[in-house]
Parts: sequence; C-alpha cells; structure tokens
Amino acid sequence: MASPDGQPHTAEAVGAPPSVEAVKQAATEQVIDPWNVSGGKDENGNIKAIDYEALRLKFNTPPLTDEHLKRFEAVTGKKPHRLMRRRLFFSHRDFDKILDHYEKYGFFLLYTGRGPSSDSMHLGHAVPFLFTKELQDLFDVPLVIMLTDDEKFLYTRNKNHGEAKPGQDVEDFENFAFENAKDIIALGFDMKKTFLYTDYGYMGGHFYKNICEFEALITNNQVRGAMGFDGSTNVGLNSYPAKQCVAAFATSYPEIFGRPNSDSSRGMFGQRTKDIAAIPTLIPCAIDQEPYFRLVRDNCGRMRFPSPKPALILSKFLTALQGPGGKMSASDKTSAIFMKDTPNEIKKKINSYAFSGGGATREDHEKYGGNPDVDVAYAYLSYFLESDEELSEIEANYRKGTLSTGELKKKCIAELQKFVAEFQERRSKVTDEVLCAFFARRKLEFNGNPNVEVSIPAEAPVEQTGKKSGKKDKKDKKKADKAEKVEKELPVREKNEEPSS
Ligand code: TRP
Repeated sequence: MASPDGQPHTAEAVGAPPSVEAVKQAATEQVIDPWNVSGGKDENGNIKAIDYEALRLKFNTPPLTDEHLKRFEAVTGKKPHRLMRRRLFFSHRDFDKILDHYEKYGFFLLYTGRGPSSDSMHLGHAVPFLFTKELQDLFDVPLVIMLTDDEKFLYTRNKNHGEAKPGQDVEDFENFAFENAKDIIALGFDMKKTFLYTDYGYMGGHFYKNICEFEALITNNQVRGAMGFDGSTNVGLNSYPAKQCVAAFATSYPEIFGRPNSDSSRGMFGQRTKDIAAIPTLIPCAIDQEPYFRLVRDNCGRMRFPSPKPALILSKFLTALQGPGGKMSASDKTSAIFMKDTPNEIKKKINSYAFSGGGATREDHEKYGGNPDVDVAYAYLSYFLESDEELSEIEANYRKGTLSTGELKKKCIAELQKFVAEFQERRSKVTDEVLCAFFARRKLEFNGNPNVEVSIPAEAPVEQTGKKSGKKDKKDKKKADKAEKVEKELPVREKNEEPSS
C-alpha cells in the first residue's frame, strides 16, 4: 500500500511505526572473542542465551563425546570430573592425540593461564582451574600457569585510547597477578609439579627466543583476523598473541624439565632443543581463548624446532547472575560471586539477582513447572554439586514444579557458601613464601603414567608439523646436540623405538 504522496511507507516516515524488517535488523548475533562474551539479541531486543553449538560450529572444534569420556576413564582409571561429565567442558582439539601420547610416552605438559584484570577472582575464573587441578592430579604431569599482567595492561590502555587512568599502571596489573596467583594456589595445586609465572617476571631467555621467532612467522593481518584488531590497536596488543601462543611450547620452560634456560645469567649454556620442543601440550581453557590457539596450531610446525599442535579442552562460561546471555564479569559487581564474598553476600546475590526459570507465581510454578535450562541457581549447581543423582533429582523436580525457586536457590546458596568458605580457609594459608615457592624456577617433579616409562620423543611427529626435512635439519640437529651440555634427565626416545613395558 502506498501513502498519499504515492511513496511506499518506510520506517523513516515521520510518525510511522518502524517496519517489521527494521525491527528485525535490530536482532544481533552473539559476540565471543578473547575480550567480549555476550549472547545475541532477539528481534525484540531481549538478550539470548549463548548458543554454544553455533559457536562450536563457527570455531569448527569437535564436540567432546561419550567415547572421549570412556577413553579418559580407561587411561586414567578415574571417573571424569563433573565438569566433563556434564559437558561444561564440551569441545576439544586433539584430545585423543594427547591421550595416545600419554599412553606411549607417559606425560605431556599442561598449560593454562589467567588475565589478572582485578585483585579478586570470581567463581567463573575458578572453574577452568578446578578442572586443570583435576587433570594434573589424574595424569600426574607438569603444569605451567601464565599470569598475563602485560595483556591486561595493554588491553586496558587500548580501551582507554592510550590514556593512563589511576590504578591502571603496569605495577597495578602485576599486583593483581600476584593476588590472583594466591587465589589460584588456594584452589589446591601441587607445588612440586606446578610452575606459576607473571609475564613481566619470567619472559626472557628461551621464552623470548620463541616469542621473536613466532612474531616473525605471523603477520599483522593474521593477528587482526584472529583477534579482531585493526590499525588503531596499540602495537603492544598486536604483538601480545605471540606471547600467549609460544607459552604453549615446552621449549619456553626448559628448567621445568631440568635443562638450563638461556636467561641473562646462563644464556651461554642453554639452547632450545628439538626434543623438548616435541613434548606436546594440553590446554584447558574457556572457548573464548580458542583464537589464540588456532594461531599456534597453524604455525607451530614452522618453528625452527617444531612442536606438535597443542591439544585443547574447551569450556563454556559460568553464567552471569543475570542469566545465560552473558558471563560473570569482574567489572560488573552484580554479575558475579567473588571468591572474597562473605556467606551473607553470596546469599543476598543469589536471592536478589540470580535469574530464575521458575513460574511467575507459585500457582503457575506448581501447575506448569520451572525451566532449569535458563535458571541461574540450577546452572551454578551443575558446576559445583558433585552428585549426579542429586542434580538430576533437582532438575526433574524443578521441571515438575514440586521444587520451588526458593528451595532451589537455598540449595545453590548452601553449595556455593561451602565451596567459597573452604577456598577462603586455604587462601588464608597462602603466604608470600608459598607464593615464591610456586614462582621459583626449578625442575618439576612428576611421575606421569604409572604404566609406561616416562620419556620424551626425539622430535615432534612429522605429519603434525608439516616441517621441511633435509640438509638444514641435519645441521640443526648437530648444532643442538653439541649445544646441549647438560645430562638429560628424562630418557629421549628415538623415532621408531617402542616404549619399554
Ligand atoms: N588471555 C587469558 C585471559 O585473559 C589468559 C591466558 C594466558 C590463558 N594463557 C592462557 C587462558 C592459556 C587459558 C589458557 O584470561
């Protein structure tokens, strides 16, 4: 139908309601990258729950299947962690390969990290670490934890267009890193097999050689494509991804394997070596970190000493109190439960903010039941309640309407109060001495797979690295052999040698 002036109606016509098409265009897609996590908006502007299946398909990462869980149980002899059973860790890359490697060579390197954006961690930050601790215990392998004080400084400055605001200096982020490190330690990591470091404190020697080499391999365009940077992004943030990437190479930490690091005092003794490069890495992390590790997987085979592609096990985000369209955020105090919160604060936050999937009235709830799929108290229970039976009972009763929102919240509050109180008790014992022990550069002590002799492959598997072979390699090998003056502490197994036992 045309208007009196003969023109078709448009949304711009004065006084006219916006056309359906115009409103529809207001619907937005979800945004998930290392710095932003939010569900899309529907046509009416309501925030939608994060669609993890769409995300997985976009990133093209395979699902974690029942087969993986069975294999995990067969290899470790233990039931998989509840976060894995409930598919809160839901996707992976090469998880099978890392298990193969563990069966043959007895160990791998675990690597995870944390961007210290404030002095207190919240429950969402704790989740990947809880899972990592479990993996470390079950596999009995070395673990490195990177605290990216540099990343958070650069990111914050970038956000402020270079302006230095109070409380956002380099030293502030370094201090956040130390505070966060104490929180991480209080989650129960075993000091003997865990090395924690801040980027400001540790990067040098082998690590810095890896950084420079990796920086030389990737272009601005590749980093922009993976991270969403543009020409106005500060140069520090542009080059930061190389750091998080090479942190996945075992050669960045020769001392944890008993080899010298070519840092300033010992540079003349240590060279990077092909065998340490061949130790594969498993990275537990939330799926927003995947873009980094895609970069490293695409380029690790091009390093002078190629490393295998790191394996990943990827989690969902712990839902914000406001609902499944966002994640807990340290900068939005009402979105998160902090590890510092008192029992009363936890209770108040759950009661006043936690989005409920319950019926609008008591009668409605009893008649139609509640929806645990969007209920935040239920979501938190799925992360923290250990018993599968109890959880499925809660779910069934909530759906039926026989369990009220009030009762569900009460259970959630009790479970979170218990977790946080136990954490705070351990946290009070993490002194500066304990912190220093975790930060000390040293050889880590681990036993790995009890069924095989723990050893290092002579070099990374060829098919994974796409490396070129030839004269240069032979020359490299000779050079590396010559440079390596220390006694090898772990046996190095040549290519076709079978593991003993
Ligand atoms: N970029 C991460 C963050 O902002 C920190 C990090 C560094 C990380 N290396 C990692 C996280 C490895 C997971 C795995 O929190």
